[in-house]
Order: sequence, then C-alpha cells, then structure tokens
Amino acid sequence: MTPEQVGLVTQSVVALRSRLAEVADDFYARLFERHPDLRAMFPAELTALRRKFADELELIVRAIPDFGGFVDRARGLGSRHVGYGVRAGHYTAVRPVLLEALAAALGDRWHDELAVAWHSAYDMITEVMLMGAVPAPPRIGS
Ligand code: HEM
Repeated sequence: MTPEQVGLVTQSVVALRSRLAEVADDFYARLFERHPDLRAMFPAELTALRRKFADELELIVRAIPDFGGFVDRARGLGSRHVGYGVRAGHYTAVRPVLLEALAAALGDRWHDELAVAWHSAYDMITEVMLMGAVPAPPRIGS
C-alpha cells in the first residue's frame, strides 16, 4: 500500500467511527444473503461480534503504519480464525461484501481510489491473517 492509500483507508475508518457497528451489521446481512452457507459458522446472536468486528477493523487499520504492531495483531486474529473454521477461500469471498458495506455507508464519499486502497488494505490484512493460520517457522539462528 502507498502512504496515500493508508491515509485514505484510515480517514474513511475515522469518518465512519461512530457508525462502524452499523456498518458491521450491514456487512453481516449482506454476507449471509450472498453466502447463506456461511451463517452456520457464526453465533446466532451477532450483537457482541458486530462490536468486536467494528473495533478490530478500526484498530487493525490504524495499526498499519506501525508495521510490526500490525503484523502481530493480524497474525493473532488469523490464528484465532482457524479455530472458527475460516479458510483461505473465505477471505476472498468476504472481500467484495465488506467493500460494498463500506461503500454503502460512505455514499458519495466513496470513490474509485478509495475502493482500490481498501482492496489493497483488505488483501494485506488477510495475507497476514493467513500467515497466522500456520505455525510460525523457527527463527534463523535459534
Ligand atoms: C478483515 C478481515 C476480518 C476481520 C477484521 C475479522 C474480525 C473478527 C473479530 C474481531 C472476531 C471476534 C473474535 C476474535 O477477535 O477472535 C471475529 C470472529 C469471527 N470471524 Fe472474523 N474477521 C475477518 C474475516 C473473517 C472471514 C473472512 C470470515 C469467514 C467467513 C470470518 C468469520 C468469523 C467467525 C466465524 C468468527 C467467530 C464468531 C464466534 O464464534 O464468536 N472472519 N472476526
């Protein structure tokens, strides 16, 4: 991601901050409409998860400039997702749905450059989450 893209994604999260739980709600509604088979992976009651997802999305995006902190955070999240049954293909299925929910929330503040920036951010987050899905290799020299 370029610094400009990091800036765009961060600004959009800040702009949506007070509404991120609603965005998460809309995201889950869209996800289960598009991929009904995924519903069973999630708890019946989504209230707590919606808040956790919204908080995590903000924290993880804000962590990007501190790359070490970002990697630790995303890796840990990815490692936990293995236990939820999440596999690599799920991340690809979820990306357009999350981008649509963000676009709907931002309305005419959503634009092509922001879409490309979010696409990159999502891919970077999921690549590191997937790194967390496999055991860390031993450190060289240890
Ligand atoms: C940007 C990507 C994602 C983020 C930021 C994210 C965030 C979260 C957070 C914060 C939680 C709460 C539990 C925890 O912190 O470990 C969670 C749970 C969960 N996520 Fe994700 N997630 C992402 C991608 C996905 C994908 C692609 C799937 C696949 C369908 C998925 C499925 C789940 C499931 C099934 C749970 C567990 C719910 C439960 O049993 O409580 N997530 N996610």
